Amino acid sequence: MSTATTVLRKPVRVTSGELASDGAGVRLRRLMGTPHSPSIDPFLMLDCFDTPDANDYLAGFPDHPHRGFETVTYMLAGRMRHRDNHGHEGVIEPGGVQWMTAGRGIVHSEMPEQTEGLMRGFQLWVNLPARLKMTAPAYQEYGPERIPVEARDGVTVKVIAGRTSRGTAGPIATAATEAFYFDIALEPGASFVEPVEPAHSAFAVVYEGALRIGEHPQAIRAVALAALGDGDAVALTAAEGPARALLIGGRPLREPVAWYGPFVMNTAREIVQAMHDYQAGRF
Ligand code: CO
Repeated sequence: MSTATTVLRKPVRVTSGELASDGAGVRLRRLMGTPHSPSIDPFLMLDCFDTPDANDYLAGFPDHPHRGFETVTYMLAGRMRHRDNHGHEGVIEPGGVQWMTAGRGIVHSEMPEQTEGLMRGFQLWVNLPARLKMTAPAYQEYGPERIPVEARDGVTVKVIAGRTSRGTAGPIATAATEAFYFDIALEPGASFVEPVEPAHSAFAVVYEGALRIGEHPQAIRAVALAALGDGDAVALTAAEGPARALLIGGRPLREPVAWYGPFVMNTAREIVQAMHDYQAGRF
């Protein structure tokens, strides 16, 4: 017989990120992928955009390449049109997600489908293992009506990827990293407690209100990313009024990372090859 003891994960690094400008001048908050907030294997970068001012987002992200990883765009408000050089096009609606496997390469644009009003959402970059970096590009796209919502006591969980302990499974397949991606809304004082595979990395993004994480005494206020330490469960409690947060995790790849702008490979040689292939129009 074994005795199962729950070890709640602690916040080991908390950051409110850095204000940045990307694309053709979109203002955003970079919560991961900066010197102060490094990548959390297998996740590379996380941007949060949240603005009612069209001047902050209208310029969008005109044509640019990606190779070697996945981009996950999750919209909370506003609509983003996506178009790539292989004829794939669509609009990500509020509450919808696009999980794009760039693989061996695409060139795409991501442009707001609105000229006024709130634009709010996240883009996460998920690394791919060496054996899949040159896989064919692929898309998994789901509107809000296709994303299951699990109701608990004072808590609702939108399950975008992965499976909860109560069996709610998200529509996105993430075999390469076993990534899970939950969007959690908590009523005042409510707690979300969930087992998390001990071998997986995990982090929480508090984007409304404030949360206590595990037994950590200090509430973490929006907007903030908390990298979570070792353990086999996560407990999030709304500390002051209602709160909303993302809980994301996955299996670390533990491979060398060679990262240059929109190319994330394993070696410098592969980065040079990516630049040649892009310039030669082979994406
Ligand atoms: Co892109």
